[in-house]
Amino acid sequence: MAIGNDPIVESDEEVKAFDDSKAGVKGLVDSGILKIPNFFIQPPYDHNQKKLDTNLTNLQIPVIDLQGEHQQVVDGIKNASENWGFFQVVNHGVPITVMDEMIKGVRRFNEQDNEVKKEIYSRDLAKRVRFSSNFVLYQSKAANWRDTLTFLMFTPDPLDPVELPAVCRDITVDYTKHVTELGDSLFELLSEAIGLKPDHLKKLEWAQSCVLASNYYPACPQPELTLGAAEHRDPAFLTILLQDNIGGLQVLHQDQWVDVQPIPGAFVINIGDLLQIVSNDKFKSIEHRVLANLVGPRVSIACFLTVCLNMTMKTYGPIKELLSDENGPVYQDFTTKDYIQYFSSQGDGKSGLNNLKL
Ligand code: OGA
Ligand code: NI
Repeated sequence: MAIGNDPIVESDEEVKAFDDSKAGVKGLVDSGILKIPNFFIQPPYDHNQKKLDTNLTNLQIPVIDLQGEHQQVVDGIKNASENWGFFQVVNHGVPITVMDEMIKGVRRFNEQDNEVKKEIYSRDLAKRVRFSSNFVLYQSKAANWRDTLTFLMFTPDPLDPVELPAVCRDITVDYTKHVTELGDSLFELLSEAIGLKPDHLKKLEWAQSCVLASNYYPACPQPELTLGAAEHRDPAFLTILLQDNIGGLQVLHQDQWVDVQPIPGAFVINIGDLLQIVSNDKFKSIEHRVLANLVGPRVSIACFLTVCLNMTMKTYGPIKELLSDENGPVYQDFTTKDYIQYFSSQGDGKSGLNNLKL
């Protein structure tokens, strides 16, 4: 049983049966369970840790209007990236119809006949199209109350659309086009925010891989015992997240969990571990989590802009132009291969970023 500190192991029959069902958390809910299986129960010390009542604070992550005055936008992004690691953007140019249709497409995939979903259920990270529940199920302390559909859209070669599930194929192609364009604009603004020329980050060609991870968080009968996503940081450069109107995402800020309020038509942007490293700790990759909810399902689509895993010898490190005698590198240079090692050793989402510290 996976209560307490023991990681989930493959020999746990309840876990094995869950994984073998290939039906995910939604399969459990559809079977009519009233109590969640033990392996979803978060150790209490983890669940309550830093769990101050966010309703007592008026804190909200910064919201940036991308159509605003240019210097104000850059300053807003700088402030948010240094102090929060998170911000929301509005007036970003992605049509709201595309955003709504993408959420609907993810719902259609999850709510279609199980047999179709089962065909692509896999834990093989090399598969460019895969569905699974808890991509780190084994080794984690407790399972997350969510199912995830993952597409490696660019690696950097583009995924052939025929590989995408038919129920969300066209909208995924359209959405990816828009969201990667937004990513390009954000990298320009982030370059300026850190004091570099607008094209600097893009020219480094470090974040050419685009992974779309669509999350489906079913309603949970005992939301206080588990989490939709346990506390973690994103092992990418940048995450562009689309969430529906249910809510549940929280960001750690000054030791308090702050709710990320759903704003219709907005994207949630967060700095990942890799951008923290190459910015030499100027920008912050911040812990976040998702609460489970009696109400659901909740859908979110994370677009991770990250390293190309097939370019194993490519090197990354603190951007030289940001370094000086007074500001020496905080991290060593590393290769994609080193990154993969750190990524796979981080298990429960605890960041191995410290391993790269000098
Ligand atoms: C993630 C993540 C948040 C959400 O997928 O890394 O943090 O709201 N998702 O689904
Ligand atoms: Ni995340």
